[in-house]
Amino acid sequence: AARRDLEGRTVLVTAGPTREPLDPIRFLSNRSSGKMGFALAEAARDRGARVVLVTGPVHLPDPAGVQVIRVETAAQMLEAVLRHAPAADAVIKAAAVADFRPARPAAHKIKKEAGAPVVELEPTPDILKELGRRKAPGQVLVGFAAETQDLLENANRKIREKNLDLIVLNDVTQPGAGFEVDTNIVTLVYRDGRHEALPPMPKRQVADAILDRLPWPRVRREAD
Ligand code: C5P
Repeated sequence: AARRDLEGRTVLVTAGPTREPLDPIRFLSNRSSGKMGFALAEAARDRGARVVLVTGPVHLPDPAGVQVIRVETAAQMLEAVLRHAPAADAVIKAAAVADFRPARPAAHKIKKEAGAPVVELEPTPDILKELGRRKAPGQVLVGFAAETQDLLENANRKIREKNLDLIVLNDVTQPGAGFEVDTNIVTLVYRDGRHEALPPMPKRQVADAILDRLPWPRVRREAD
């Protein structure tokens, strides 16, 4: 039986890719399957948490006992996350949010007769950075990073820049890690610079390992 160590806590998890429209038919997206985020939501639920799962388009059914909010774009994910973050004790951002989107999506289907279009991209809102800016005392903020080079340096920089407590680093160049597969190989990077490499494990076990290690901040109690 699972430990009920998250009883009374609210955990907000994001999962999946986002889709950024080019026109009403086409979009930019990425290889995220949502499996890591869904595993986190299920693990947190089994440990007694109230769980809100904000997910981009994925081929996974709603986990029972979890409040699921389905979105498409980074802008929609931002809105849903900001709505639910204030009530969350922990926010775990496993979603692979698009970093760029078409600056001016076409209102009608882009026709090939018009020739190959040049598509201008613009940055999407950085949801994690916004969460870091608004982080309440006592709230734990966990980011994911799928990197292919300079893993630890990038993770340490992001922890500071985005005011995170923990980064789950994915070396997506390794087989059995990252997108689409059922296992993951991650390194946990903490705010104090410590890091811990976990062995390859099913995503559900990675989820439990992350929840085991959530660095809950000590909240100062008001003098009474
Ligand atoms: O900086 P980078 O995109 O590698 O950071 C990845 C982390 O940031 C993930 O946790 C992802 O969910 C989050 N992210 C975000 N908003 C974006 C891009 C990434 O919240 N626009």
